[in-house]
Amino acid sequence: MSGESGVPSVNLLRDAQDRRLPRIAGPSGLVIFGVTGDLSRKKLMPAVYDLANRGLLPPGFSLVGFARRDWEHEDFAQVVRDAVREHARTPFREEVWEQLAQGMRFVPGVFDDDEAFGTLKNTIEALDKERGTGGNFAFYLSVPPKFFPTVVQQLKKHGLSDAPEGSWRRAVVEKPFGHDLKSAQELNQVVYGVFRASQVFRIDHYLGKETVQNILALRFANTMFEPLWNRSYVDHVQITMAEDIGIGGRAGYYDGIGSARDVIQNHLLQLLALTAMEEPSSFDAKALVQEKLKVLNAVRLPDDLGLHTVRGQYTAGWQGGEKVPGYLDEEGINPQSKTDTYAAIKLEIDNRRWAGVPFYLRTGKRLGRRVTEIAVVFQRAPYSPFNATDTQELGQNALVIRVQPDEGVTIRFGSKVPGTSMEIRDVTMDFAYGESFTESSPEAYERLILDVLLGDANLFPRHQEVERSWEILDPVEEYWEAHGRPEPYVAGTWGPKAADEMLKRDGRSWRRP
Ligand code: BG6
Repeated sequence: MSGESGVPSVNLLRDAQDRRLPRIAGPSGLVIFGVTGDLSRKKLMPAVYDLANRGLLPPGFSLVGFARRDWEHEDFAQVVRDAVREHARTPFREEVWEQLAQGMRFVPGVFDDDEAFGTLKNTIEALDKERGTGGNFAFYLSVPPKFFPTVVQQLKKHGLSDAPEGSWRRAVVEKPFGHDLKSAQELNQVVYGVFRASQVFRIDHYLGKETVQNILALRFANTMFEPLWNRSYVDHVQITMAEDIGIGGRAGYYDGIGSARDVIQNHLLQLLALTAMEEPSSFDAKALVQEKLKVLNAVRLPDDLGLHTVRGQYTAGWQGGEKVPGYLDEEGINPQSKTDTYAAIKLEIDNRRWAGVPFYLRTGKRLGRRVTEIAVVFQRAPYSPFNATDTQELGQNALVIRVQPDEGVTIRFGSKVPGTSMEIRDVTMDFAYGESFTESSPEAYERLILDVLLGDANLFPRHQEVERSWEILDPVEEYWEAHGRPEPYVAGTWGPKAADEMLKRDGRSWRRP
C-alpha cells in the first residue's frame, strides 16, 4: 500500500520490511569479565568489531574490559586491535576502529576486589555521560564457573545489576553452566539471586550459527520435508560434531570435564531438540523454549548404558601430516586421566512422532576431520521391485544438514546409472550456502552479542533446558565413572572401535563424513 505520493507510509513500510531491515542495537555498552581469555580474544572482541563494521552498533557503543592486568585503557585497546586484526571476519577499516576504540575502557582488578568494582561503576557512569550509553549495559561472564558467584554478587553489591530508571542491565553467561544437574541448579540460584530470568542470557554458541537456525527454516518454511519427519519414514538420526583439533591449551578446563559435558550436554542436545521438536506457535523465546523443553523431556536413555554409550580417549597419531601427542601426554593433563575426548550416546524419544527412532549423538577431538552435521536417515523402501544385484550400491535415503564447515544441505537418494541395465546407485543433491548466497554468514558470536544488546532471547537456552540436559547426561557420566576407562583411539581416526560396534549391534553404521 502506498500514500498519495506513491511512497509507502512509514509505518506500512516498516511493517512490510521489518524482518529484513538491519537490527541495530540502541545505546549500550558491554563489559567483559575474563577479557584476557582465549574466547574473548578469538571470538568476542572480533565479533564486536564485526558488528561495528556492519553498522549494527550505536555510535557511542562502549566496551569495558575487566581483568587482573596492569593495563591502561590504551593497552587494552591495543590488545583488542590485535585480536580484531587476527580474528575478525570482516576487513579492517581504520575509521570503524577509531570510533570503536574511543569507547574502550579497562578496569584492572580481581573479582573480589571492592575497589575495582567501584571503579567499574564510575567507569560505566562516566561512559553514560560521555558516550550516551543510556545506562544500558550487558555484563559478559567469560570466566570459569567457580567465579560466577563472586562476580554476580559483586555486581549486586555495587548496584551494577540494578538498571537505572528507563535502562537495562543484562548478564551473559558462558558455558559450562555447571558440571551436573546439582551444580547447575546451584548456579542458577546464585544468578537468580541477583538477576531476573529475563535479564539472563546463557550462551550456547551453536544456536547462533546460521546453519542451526536454518533447521527451523528447512523444517517449518517448507512442505516437502515435514511429512517425512517422523517414525513412519525415518530410520534413525545421527548427530555428529567431530573436531580435528586436540585440547590445545585448555587442559585446565577440559580435564575432568570431557567431551560429553563439553558439547553433548549443550550443543548436541540443542541440535537434537531443534531437529525433533514440534512446530512452535511462534519464534519468540517462550514458544521456542516450550517446544524444545517438551522434546527434551521426552528423551530417554536406553536401559543398558554399557551397550549404548561409548567413550574414548585419543592416543598419539598423525593429523594433517603431523605427528600429534596422545591425550595423556598433552601438557597439563593428569597421566592417569579418565577424561573422555570422544563420546557416543544413543537416545530414544518417547513420543508419537519418534517412538522407536534412535538418535545417535557423537563427538570427539582429534577425529578424521572437522565436521558437524545432522543426518536424518530414512527407512528402506518396504518392497523393492528391482533385482537385489541392481540395488546393491543403493544405501538408505538421507537428508544431511551440514552445519559446518561446508555449510548446506545434502539429500542422498538412488538414481539409475546411465546404460542399458537397471542399476541403481546413490547420488546426492546439494545446497551450498556459498553458491546460493553472496553474503557470508555472520559468526555465531556476532549474532548472539547483537541479540543480547537488543534483548532478543530466542537463541539462548533457558535454565530449564540446561537442567534437563544435565538430567539426561548425568546417568551416563555416573555409569562411566563406575566402569573402567575410556576406549583408546588413534588420533586422526574416527574414534574407538567400540563406537562402530555399538551401531553394528543395531544393524547400522556411522556415516564417514
Ligand atoms: C565449544 C567447546 O563449546 O565448542 C570446544 O567448549 C569446541 O571444546 C568448540 O572446540 C567448537 O566450536 P565450533 O564453533 O568451532 O564448532
